[in-house]
Amino acid sequence: MPTPAPTPQPVPQPVLSPLTRASLFLVLTVDPGGEPAVRELLADLAGLRRAIGFGYPDAQLSVVAGIGSEAWDRLVDRPRPAELHPFRELRGARHHAPATPGDLLLHLRATRQDLCFSLGTEIMNRLRGHVAVADEVAGFSYLDQRDLLGFVDGTENPVGREAADAVLVGEQDPAYAGGSYVVVQKYLHDLDAWNRLPVEQQEQIIGRRKLTNLELDTPGSHVVLNTITDPDGTERKILRDNMPFGSPGSGEFGTYFIGYARTPEVTEEMLRHMFLGDGPTSHDRILDFSTAVTGTLFFAPPADFLEDLADQPAS
Ligand code: HEM
Repeated sequence: MPTPAPTPQPVPQPVLSPLTRASLFLVLTVDPGGEPAVRELLADLAGLRRAIGFGYPDAQLSVVAGIGSEAWDRLVDRPRPAELHPFRELRGARHHAPATPGDLLLHLRATRQDLCFSLGTEIMNRLRGHVAVADEVAGFSYLDQRDLLGFVDGTENPVGREAADAVLVGEQDPAYAGGSYVVVQKYLHDLDAWNRLPVEQQEQIIGRRKLTNLELDTPGSHVVLNTITDPDGTERKILRDNMPFGSPGSGEFGTYFIGYARTPEVTEEMLRHMFLGDGPTSHDRILDFSTAVTGTLFFAPPADFLEDLADQPAS
């Protein structure tokens, strides 16, 4: 008897792409009636990326599309992924994580800003008249992978197999295996106040040395609050690709936080620790110098799922 052909594994979108020097984050809302144009764009997204990126193989141009929970029901005629819901706003005693609108996320990355710009322009040429732009941020890699607070950001990101396990949906939701949940938040920094703090105090807040990046074991630090474990002691990780952004002219300086995970639960627990505190720690002191102005949760389905959207009956 012939052996049955193995079931093809879903191909993820390039959520595991390496950290790059440049990025563009587009958060869009879909106009009523704009659904067919959005579905067609999502189905063509990989082709657009290929067209623009093919001539620059070293530039690692990639794009990931995420769909928000309310938009899912308008765009897709299949049930929502098991854990897709609107971003959960958090109100702590001192700090607030708002939930803000967003039907679509486009996360563009490359080693060169011009390629993100070029792909972003083609995407928007296709979507103009069908969507509104809720937020647009061009992020850049700063010095030796530092955020604008001056600390190296991204060190503890999982890599290889560990990254795939942390980020990609598996058997817990077989219909969406290979997808990933993604949380974005735009933070604005009060850099004048931050830079008035002695470096030793900044280091206690982050939980790492500023110059050498070596880890400190300071209770209540950002690093400690975001190190979370299962009851059996296994660390629960997310994959971050935070990007600095800013404008010296207008004095706006920020960090665009983006975290991918196989379940939004992990990122949500980190956010609860930061905004509502954990044990004796009332909140993450990074927030005394950083204000969250947006917050949205998306699901980035597998690549072939996006391609099939073009064949879906019009809603
Ligand atoms: C103002 C925004 C933020 C800034 C400037 C920032 C900066 C940093 C820096 C400098 C580190 C240490 C180096 C590293 O391992 O990457 C770090 C670690 C980390 N951050 Fe953030 N972060 C921000 C927001 C967030 C948010 C919103 C989350 C989660 C929801 C988060 C989760 C983490 C995690 C999981 C680690 C690694 C902890 C470990 O295992 O050592 N961060 N962050």
